[in-house]
Amino acid sequence: MNKLTIITPDDWHLHLRDTPYMEAVVNHTARQFARAIIMPNLSPPVRTCAEAMAYRQRILAALAALPAQSAFTPLMTLYLTDNTQVEEIREASQSEYIHGAKLYPAGATTNSEAGVTELAKLDRVFEAMQEHGLVLQVHGEATAPTVDVFDREKVFIEESLSKIRKDFPQLKIVFEHITTREAIDFVRACDANLAATITPHHLLINRNAIFEGGIRPHHYCLPIAKREQHRQSLLEAATSGESQFFAGTDSAPHSRSSKESGCGCAGIYSAFSALEFYAEAFDQVGDFTHFETFLSRNGASFYGLPLNQGSITLKRSECIIPDSLPYPDSSLIPFRAGQTLHWKTADND
Ligand code: DOR
Ligand code: ZN
Repeated sequence: MNKLTIITPDDWHLHLRDTPYMEAVVNHTARQFARAIIMPNLSPPVRTCAEAMAYRQRILAALAALPAQSAFTPLMTLYLTDNTQVEEIREASQSEYIHGAKLYPAGATTNSEAGVTELAKLDRVFEAMQEHGLVLQVHGEATAPTVDVFDREKVFIEESLSKIRKDFPQLKIVFEHITTREAIDFVRACDANLAATITPHHLLINRNAIFEGGIRPHHYCLPIAKREQHRQSLLEAATSGESQFFAGTDSAPHSRSSKESGCGCAGIYSAFSALEFYAEAFDQVGDFTHFETFLSRNGASFYGLPLNQGSITLKRSECIIPDSLPYPDSSLIPFRAGQTLHWKTADND
């Protein structure tokens, strides 16, 4: 297989940040994907429909300023807090621009301080989301400091996600950026109301990559990469074609200076070559049968959105990922900086 043409894909989990940082990254996603769910963990977070609409306008303005016109559509989501009102959920579910609400357990990751401290506080919100068909996107990690960082996803499933699933069986849930065999088993045991996104980096690195010859801050993200056996399970799930698994890059830009620091930020910037990374992952398995299903079909169908109209072609061809990209006040180090890719989209010629 040397050439792949698929329906233009979507990124079901993306961090764009805000002006002036967003301007440095938005085109990387827009040139490969038709739509993306835009994460709301800004500072301050995007908590209301009014804030989501204002953020959407800033994204559209950044897109309009690009040299080439882009048809990229940002899909907005709200950041849930202990104080999210049922009325806000009702309004969000009626908006054609808002496609979910995101649960960040407080303290779980970047800009999650305003997140949810106790699940029970969201009972009425989950009930309203279930009633109105608004998708719940979940950062699935337990936050108790006593929980080992490599066990956080597993413990979250046992202590929290199972309970949400049981209490709100009709609630549509996306278990974001899954990293473990346990998560895959959980997804498969649930019905079609629960799906999961899988990132390119969790398909391509295991936890050894964080410590290869020294500490590698550009391989640090949350959930943290796990053992090789988990990566193999993720590859198997992503390439299986099963409708509950789809692409979500979790591309998360942080400046070089905030990554290479005494307390470096979590996040891997994959957007520059996202589609190529997914192609590399499928190539490892040697089976592209479900490449389009994973990238362009399953997510749209879960979110109840039409398939995209266009297509994109990847060719087997070597190209080197830049060492660094421009970013305000610093630079941005892309995932696998300086390394060779074996796939190339037409756009990257
Ligand atoms: O590594 C991560 N970075 N994981 C997240 O959940 C958030 C993201 C970010 O916003 O930087
Ligand atoms: Zn994320």
